[in-house]
Order: sequence, then C-alpha cells, then structure tokens
Amino acid sequence: MLDRFVDMTARRPSGWFGKKMYNNPRGHYRAFCLTLDKLALKPDDVFLEIGCGGGVLLNMALESVAQAKAIDHSPDMVRIARDRNQEAISEGRVEIVQGNAESLPWDDNSFTCATANQMFFFIDKPLIVLKEFYRVLKPGGRLVITSTEDSILPKLLFVLWYHSMHLYKNQEMEYMLKQVGFQTVEVKNLERFIQLSYAEK
Ligand SMILES: C[S@@+](CC[C@H](N)C(=O)[O-])C[C@H]1O[C@@H](n2cnc3c(N)ncnc32)[C@H](O)[C@@H]1O
Repeated sequence: MLDRFVDMTARRPSGWFGKKMYNNPRGHYRAFCLTLDKLALKPDDVFLEIGCGGGVLLNMALESVAQAKAIDHSPDMVRIARDRNQEAISEGRVEIVQGNAESLPWDDNSFTCATANQMFFFIDKPLIVLKEFYRVLKPGGRLVITSTEDSILPKLLFVLWYHSMHLYKNQEMEYMLKQVGFQTVEVKNLERFIQLSYAEK
C-alpha cells in the first residue's frame, strides 16, 4: 500500500496527482536554481537530465543550451515533459525518452553536462547510474545531482517516503563518484536539506 503511494507520488509518478504535482513541482525550484547556477550552462553545452519528471528543469535549461536530452521511466511524466517542451522538440533541439536511468540509450561521450534532481534517492543501484553518467559525459563534462541530506529532520519531513529513499552521507556520495572515475568531486549540504553533488569527468 505505502509502496504504491510512493510510486504514484514520487518514484514513478502517475495519474491525476502525479501530473498535478510535477507539472509545477514547487518544492523543487530551489534545487533547479542551484543546479543551473552550478552548471553555468553555455549555448554549446549538450545537456542531459535523468528522472526529468514534468520537464520543468529541462525547459529552464533549454533557455541556455541548444541541445538537450532527458529520460524518465514514468510514461505519464514523459507525456507531460513532452507537452511542456513541444516547441523545442519540433525544432529538433530536445529528445525525451521513456526508460531506465540504469541503461541510458545514448553513446559514450555524448554530453557536456548532466543532472539528476530529487530522484537519485530512488535509485537502487547508484553505482550503475553513476557509471552511466560517466560513460555518456565527454571528458571535462560536469555533473550535478541534487538529493536530500541524510539527517534526522528530512527523515521526519518525508516520513511517508523515507522508507523507500536511499540517502547518503556526503562522504559516501564523494566516495561513489570517485569510485566510478569522476575527478573533481564536491558534495555539500545546502538550504532546505538539499544535498548538492558536483563532479567533473
Ligand atoms: C521525485 S520525482 C522528481 C522529478 C523531477 N526531477 C523534479 O525534480 O521535479 C522523481 C522522478 O524520477 C523518475 N525516476 C525514478 N527512478 C528512475 C529510473 N530508475 N529511471 C528513470 N526515471 C526514474 C520518476 O519517474 C520521477 O519522474
């Protein structure tokens, strides 16, 4: 029962509630802004987002970059992300696919920057996904992952979801990023319990 609730509201959003929530994910805008600040996108960047939900951050990124791709495993999220980014799709600037972040359908060295926002805690095999990020990023490519810090208050705040979330201490995140090959790695806790991980290939 709780598992179904977590899926519908966050892990694989669907139905009326999922659509309403991720069409305007108010609680995630701060993480989106921190991500964009850190990535400092340039027009020639090729941007990747995994777990793009309703495609709001993707839409913001497309104000700066010419080319972007995104993946989400929820059919409902792919649909609303495509609706929101219809113009860029018709211009051939963006591709949004349904699939699992553990197996990205793109070639090695395809992107200059990549991100995962408020979804990494749902990944059961974090090293596989980090390896995929590393594989598809070009040398020098930048990665930003925003997640939730591993401390008591967010656990209380997200009590209904917490049992399904994998939260990592900053040192654990750093270790995993370095383990798959990333060179410059920094992991920080910021406001609103946001944990921001930055790494370069
Ligand atoms: C909490 S929502 C966040 C959506 C969006 N990033 C945001 O911040 O508004 C998590 C998203 O990650 C997607 N997701 C979770 N695990 C995934 C996986 N293994 N592969 C692809 N998408 C995944 C879900 O379908 C959902 O859209």
